[in-house]
Amino acid sequence: MSDPTGPGQIVDRLAGVALPRHIAIVMDGNGRWAQQRGQPRYAGHRAGVASVRSVVEACGHLGVEALTLFAFSSENWRRPPGEIRVLMELFRSTLDQEVSRLYEQGVRLRFIGDRTSLDTALQRRLDDAEALTAGNVSLDLIIATNYGGRWEMAAAARQLAAAAARGEIDPEAIDERALQGALCLPDACDPDLFIRTGGEQRLSNFLLWQLAYAELYFTDTLWPAFGTEALARAIEAFSGRNRRFGGVQPSVQKSPGDA
Ligand code: FPP
Repeated sequence: MSDPTGPGQIVDRLAGVALPRHIAIVMDGNGRWAQQRGQPRYAGHRAGVASVRSVVEACGHLGVEALTLFAFSSENWRRPPGEIRVLMELFRSTLDQEVSRLYEQGVRLRFIGDRTSLDTALQRRLDDAEALTAGNVSLDLIIATNYGGRWEMAAAARQLAAAAARGEIDPEAIDERALQGALCLPDACDPDLFIRTGGEQRLSNFLLWQLAYAELYFTDTLWPAFGTEALARAIEAFSGRNRRFGGVQPSVQKSPGDA
């Protein structure tokens, strides 16, 4: 399908529109996209890499600060071993092909999730990509791999409990800020736009803490068909939302008797 809004045109298309600082995406629908074409599921994952590329490029053009992509969840280990192998291999080969280009584009790569059960060669690539791009400032591209929101919160709780047991912190002092500080990326701003492709409308254990106030956007578009045009539509929908963060609209804050 042709994409009328290319990565280069998205800036004009969204001129004057309120942009999210951080976009988080569950890239769903690869398997169905392939099956609809009579192809094996892995073909959908391969096609999904092209969508990753155009969305990363578009976010870079727009000046979005951070983009977090859910590449592999802690629950994805339940998939058939052959599909897991394809996903891991695709992840490795995509890193090999793209990291130097991402570096040139000023992208800082960061990975969240439990790396310990990943293949050691893949772990090394994640470490190397992070080290190479650590000084970049144009876009934070955060890839969630073997990640689960509950895993992240349990790990943070464990870290704080251990510090309390060592007498380094007072349990009474453990507040939201302390927990935030023990999460994977304490310095990243929370996503303000969450996108899920593929027609399902759930969070699937993604960034459970960080999505507390995100605007949720669901689309039936399958991930391999999600390009810059679809991203522009999601951002336009976001810009029309009324974000109150538990408060009230400024226009109704005053009571009728107020000056
Ligand atoms: C969900 O579609 C998609 C995944 C589990 C993997 C996402 C991976 C990629 C897009 C490629 C690699 C990504 C990077 C960042 C290099 P699904 O298989 O659940 O689709 P279905 O719902 O149609 O079965």
